[in-house]
Amino acid sequence: MNEPLATVRFGADRIRRRVDELAAEVKRDLGGEPPVLVSVLKGSMIFMADFSRSLDVAAEIDFMMVSSFVGGGEAGVVRIVNDLEISIEDRHVVVVEAIVDTGLTLAFLLKTLRARNPKSIRVCALVDKPVRRIAQPLLDYVGFQTDEFMVGYGLDFKGRYRNLPFLAGVSDVRALDANPDALFETLVVNEDRPS
Ligand code: IMP
Ligand code: MG
Repeated sequence: MNEPLATVRFGADRIRRRVDELAAEVKRDLGGEPPVLVSVLKGSMIFMADFSRSLDVAAEIDFMMVSSFVGGGEAGVVRIVNDLEISIEDRHVVVVEAIVDTGLTLAFLLKTLRARNPKSIRVCALVDKPVRRIAQPLLDYVGFQTDEFMVGYGLDFKGRYRNLPFLAGVSDVRALDANPDALFETLVVNEDRPS
């Protein structure tokens, strides 16, 4: 038997419970003042949607799009593609990030946000992949840890699979690279979706 190309690691119910726990922790730590929730597109859109609804405090939501791989695929070069609309000066900021891998994207983002003099910045990351960490941005809240390449719940492989309601780990990224649509058969077209 061949190894499956991807395996569901965190099902939809488990994610929901964990997101609720994270939101409860953040709410407790915020102490009343309405925060600005900053979502890092595109990967964090689903997490932000669930997290912000679970947070249950007055909040503003804004989005930032950064690209981590500019020219030639060099990691570590981060650029703002779309900036925030809201001023974060003197505000409590919660960065809502789906996944932290090398940490380079988040480190860049935090440096940029800090320069705008917010009252505080907290980072809430759904998935932490510590094994490949290069920069060491502080993660205040972490949902899950893994060392796999993950797809689903906002996370993509070549633009695909963001709308899967669960998080799956890809066991053979090279094989998926050869056929990026391969997971549609095993994960998407599946009547008995695990949850
Ligand atoms: P960084 O390596 O921490 O800078 O992560 C850069 C970006 O790469 C993340 O914000 C994600 O968009 C993407 N990324 C990193 N790891 C994964 C993964 O396992 N699945 C899907 N996207 C990922
Ligand atoms: Mg991506």
